[in-house]
Amino acid sequence: GKGNFRHFMEKELHEHPVVIGDVLHRMLDGGTPRLPALPFDLAAVKRITMSACGSAFYAGLTAKFWLENLARVPVEADVASEFRYRAPPLDEGGLGLLVSQSGETADTLAALRYMKTAGQKILSVLNVPESSMARESDAILETIAGPEIGVASTKAFTAQLTVLAVFSLALAQAKGVLPSAEVERLAASLLEIPAKAAEVLANEAPIRQLAKRIAEARDVLYLGRGGCFPIALEGALKLKEISYIHAEGYAAGEMKHGPIALIDKSVPVIAICPSGPLFEKTASNLQEAAARGGQIVVFSDKEGAEKLAPIAAETILLPEIDPFAAPILHAIPVQMLAYHVAVLKGTDVDQPRNLAKSVTVE
Ligand code: F6R
Repeated sequence: GKGNFRHFMEKELHEHPVVIGDVLHRMLDGGTPRLPALPFDLAAVKRITMSACGSAFYAGLTAKFWLENLARVPVEADVASEFRYRAPPLDEGGLGLLVSQSGETADTLAALRYMKTAGQKILSVLNVPESSMARESDAILETIAGPEIGVASTKAFTAQLTVLAVFSLALAQAKGVLPSAEVERLAASLLEIPAKAAEVLANEAPIRQLAKRIAEARDVLYLGRGGCFPIALEGALKLKEISYIHAEGYAAGEMKHGPIALIDKSVPVIAICPSGPLFEKTASNLQEAAARGGQIVVFSDKEGAEKLAPIAAETILLPEIDPFAAPILHAIPVQMLAYHVAVLKGTDVDQPRNLAKSVTVE
């Protein structure tokens, strides 16, 4: 049941720290990555093709950033409904990476089958180990998030990110492209997430406050860069699906190529911008949005929040964390915001209109 929570989604949001902790407990051994035995040689992986749908696709997109940036392996990423009909040429011996909570999503399963016929080894990141996708994969990495009842994915998403973060480190290590000390340092930053996620959940008041502003909006823009670009996409998707407010996620640098025309005083611009190498770039995009009257909402740590204070209409202050782990931590307040907006709007949070938990038809 829901226990003391109003909705399954609220209960599942509060499971983030435990779920992320469980994944790390299973996948890190003395601070270094530990994968189950795989029927292929990780060190020989030269190219990855990732496909998934919805939030699971966004988890895979963040992983593309990690896999290319840290493991130096090129990753092709496409939503499964497009990928399956494009018949993309794939070199024999590549790795097909699929991400799915249910393991039953029709398009993702079709993408898996296509990759298999094209000679790829298949690795799936799944929450249901008895699913169709599990049966047809060469290997699976389990997200062990437990059953997710709310139609909008929450804990399964951060579990997917966490599994993919450790997988990226394992691949970097297997390929010998990151010094062990760096792998250990990055793994240690992941281990900080559960406690920091609990801190975020214990500090709901500012997010509830922000929800009032967002509930009044007709359109909302979410911006991010690098590993946090997919978190902007996730924020916009979650807001759309449970509060029915129109929202778009954009790579912050793309704003000036079109969406900036939308911005006026009525449009909240939510920036997912933790401190790190890409912070200044995002900050300058936000200056441009602020100059056009956009209501800038900042999700960042203390240092980032201080730098953006002059232009921020509202700020959600988050714990400091290494830029590598930041997308996982930032996903939590973004989902919480959508939840509180939906509650204010009085929608059916756990069963949004027109949506099904498992999309087994294309
Ligand atoms: C969004 C959401 C969906 C799913 C998508 C894929 O909150 O839940 O976008 O992520 O339908 O489902 P799975 O992961 O079961 O393949």
